[in-house]
Amino acid sequence: MTTTQNTGHAQEFTGRNALVTGGASGIGLAVAARLAAGGAAVAIADYNEEAAHKAAADLAAGGVRATALRMDVTDPESVRAGTEAAAEALGGLHLAVNNAGISGEAAPTGEYPVEVWRRVLATNLDGVFYSLRYELPLILAAGGGAVVNMASILGTNGFAGAPAYVAAKHGVVGLTKTAALEYAGQGVRINAAGPGFIDTPLLSGMDRAAHDALVTLHPQGRLGRAEEVAELTAFLLSHRASFINGSYHLIDGGYSAR
Ligand code: NAI
Repeated sequence: MTTTQNTGHAQEFTGRNALVTGGASGIGLAVAARLAAGGAAVAIADYNEEAAHKAAADLAAGGVRATALRMDVTDPESVRAGTEAAAEALGGLHLAVNNAGISGEAAPTGEYPVEVWRRVLATNLDGVFYSLRYELPLILAAGGGAVVNMASILGTNGFAGAPAYVAAKHGVVGLTKTAALEYAGQGVRINAAGPGFIDTPLLSGMDRAAHDALVTLHPQGRLGRAEEVAELTAFLLSHRASFINGSYHLIDGGYSAR
């Protein structure tokens, strides 16, 4: 893992404490590394506890204040306890990235397994609500901050075979806007990121043909990289984005421009 990839805004997060859900892999891991490179102290929350501890240890080895904790974002009590433990370990909470998510099986809506629908909504939508529910009081108590919810291009586009994922990500965009309206006057900015398909373990179940078909949907002719999404996320969390609030930011190699 690299902890040195920033863009000339070194240490802009010094004195800021950040929580990243789903921070043990893929986009969340890259976000945690990017925030740490900017000087943040980072808590990595994930239901893969072993991977979360490894990620935090890697950051700590680079001289960063990093901690790991087990959190299942589908369980409100786990989110409450984990969020409070993260704030306690770091000494308050200023920044949060609600990123934990799953893809769910592919099937048309008329055949979609009900239990998969429930699992995807529980993780990708309920999980973001529970996270906001318990982060926002802590961010207010710390004097304000910023949140990024990890949506997807599928927060605005449909995608055949992914009804649960698409519905959940559309929900995340609406929830982001509403929470932003509620907290804009209290020093908290809340935005959503909308990545195109990003080369992470989330896509690992795909065969070569499916991978190549996804690539063709992106005019830049490749999938995105987790570090590219981390860069957008860091920008949205930073003071450089001080007037950006309640909005949804695509990062998709041109996918949505068609
Ligand atoms: P990933 O599979 O590499 O990482 C997801 C992380 O979330 C894993 O560490 C996993 O253990 C954790 N997680 C899953 N369920 C959890 C739960 N119930 N509680 C706590 N942790 C849980 O996936 P990736 O690609 O990094 O995805 C991160 C986010 O980005 C997700 O919300 C995903 O929907 C979104 N996204 C991903 C895209 C992609 O093409 N990879 C595109 C657009 C958005």
